[in-house]
Amino acid sequence: MSIFNSRVFRFFFKNRRTMKIDRQLFRTGHPQIDSQHEEYLDLLDELFVIGREPQSDKKKVEAALNKAIDYGLKHFIVEEQLMESVNYPEIDAHRKKHSEFRVRVEKLQRDGQYLSPDAFLHEINLVMVKWLCEQMKTYDRELAEYLMKRKNQ
Ligand SMILES: [Fe+2]
Repeated sequence: MSIFNSRVFRFFFKNRRTMKIDRQLFRTGHPQIDSQHEEYLDLLDELFVIGREPQSDKKKVEAALNKAIDYGLKHFIVEEQLMESVNYPEIDAHRKKHSEFRVRVEKLQRDGQYLSPDAFLHEINLVMVKWLCEQMKTYDRELAEYLMKRKNQ
């Protein structure tokens, strides 16, 4: 699959042959957040295994994509509830990131049908892996640290 030759994406994938994402990069230390991220990354693994099949059916890719998106959006609700429960000072900025993701996935779901399979997978990778995983490494990690600090007080 051509997209996986890109250096940017190689960073996220531990093993290009199995298409498994390197999970160590995204651990925050907060058990609930991490277990949800694990589940999300499982869904991405599934998605890329399907996308990598030589004759991969676009409908199957779409179904796997929608499953990962649904899970991601549910996860955001849980995170937002966690932030509210502790009056998290950065809640607005974090919520804004979640809204950005919602806009991007809506576009992906709407325009994906017009893209070639390779271009579609490329977009999926940009939004579902690169964008969201960067967010896990920054915003979610900060949130996790705040939650853990509050718990230990
Ligand atoms: Fe998250």
